Amino acid sequence: MSRISVAGISKWFHRRGDAPLHVLSDICIEIGTGKSVAIVGASGSGKSTLLNIIAGLTDSDGGRVLIDGREQRAGQTGAAMAYMFQEDRLLPWRTAAGNVRFGIETLGLPRAEQDRRVRSVLELVGLAEFANAYPHELSGGMRSRVALARSLAPEPQILLMDEPFSKLDPATRSQMHAEVVRIAAERAVTIVFVTHDVEEAVVLADEVVVLQPRPGRVKEVVPLQLAHPRDPVLPMVSDAVRDLRQRSDHSAAVPIYH
Ligand SMILES: Nc1ncnc2c1ncn2[C@@H]1O[C@H](COP(=O)(O)OP(=O)(O)O)[C@@H](O)[C@H]1O
Ligand SMILES: [Mg+2]
Repeated sequence: MSRISVAGISKWFHRRGDAPLHVLSDICIEIGTGKSVAIVGASGSGKSTLLNIIAGLTDSDGGRVLIDGREQRAGQTGAAMAYMFQEDRLLPWRTAAGNVRFGIETLGLPRAEQDRRVRSVLELVGLAEFANAYPHELSGGMRSRVALARSLAPEPQILLMDEPFSKLDPATRSQMHAEVVRIAAERAVTIVFVTHDVEEAVVLADEVVVLQPRPGRVKEVVPLQLAHPRDPVLPMVSDAVRDLRQRSDHSAAVPIYH
C-alpha cells in the first residue's frame, strides 16, 4: 500500500552547445494508495522524464517525490516499486519462468519462495502452461505478459509503466488492459503509467494527468469515475475518450524538436 506525492518537480536537461532544456516545471500530483493514474501528453512533453524521477532513476532539479511521506531519491529504487518499459526487455536465453525469476534473484529469497512467486505471477497473467517456453516461442502479447509477470514478482506496491503496450496490436492491447485492471484490483497496487493513447488512459485510469509541453506542466487532472470493465464501445467510455482527446489536444501546442 503506497501513496505518491509529486511536489513541485522541475527538471532541466543540460545540453552541450545549447541552452538548457526546461522539461518539467512545478509538477504537483497526488496519487492515492491503490489508485491508477495516467500521464498523457504530446511526445516530448516530459512524460518519461517524470516517470523516471518518480522511479528514482533520474534526479530532479527542484521539488520532491514522497512515497508514503518519505522522500524518494535517485538511485534508491527499492523492491516496493516495479518499472515496466516500452520494450519487453526479455532475456532471449531464458525461459518465461527464468525471465520472471530474473526480477527477484537479487532479493535474497529462499529458492522455494522464488519458485512460489514465479509460479504465482505466471498464473496471474495466464501463462502457467508456458513457463518453460523461450521468448522467441511466444507471441507479442505473451511476451508482454511475461514482462508484466516479471515486474509483479517482487510483489511491488507501486507499478510504473512507460507506454508498455504501445507495440501490441489493438486486440492484444485490450486483453492486457483487462489483465492490468484485474491485477490492480486483486493486489491493490498503485499504478502510474505514461501513454499517448487517450483511450488507454480512459480504460485504465482512475485519474488522468494532462501534461502541456515545453516545459511540461500539469494542464489539468481529469477524474474518471466509470465502472470497470470499460469497453470503448460503451457510450460512456467513448464520450470520456472524446472529452479527454479534446482536453489533451496537442494541435495548438508549439512544435516539439528532439
Ligand atoms: N537525457 C536527456 N538529455 C537531454 N534531453 C533529454 C534527455 N531525456 C529527454 N530529453 C528531452 O526532454 C524532453 C522530454 O523527453 P521525454 O520525457 O522523453 O518526453 P515524452 O516521454 O513525453 O515523449 C524531450 O525534448 C527530450 O528530447
Ligand atoms: Mg516517453
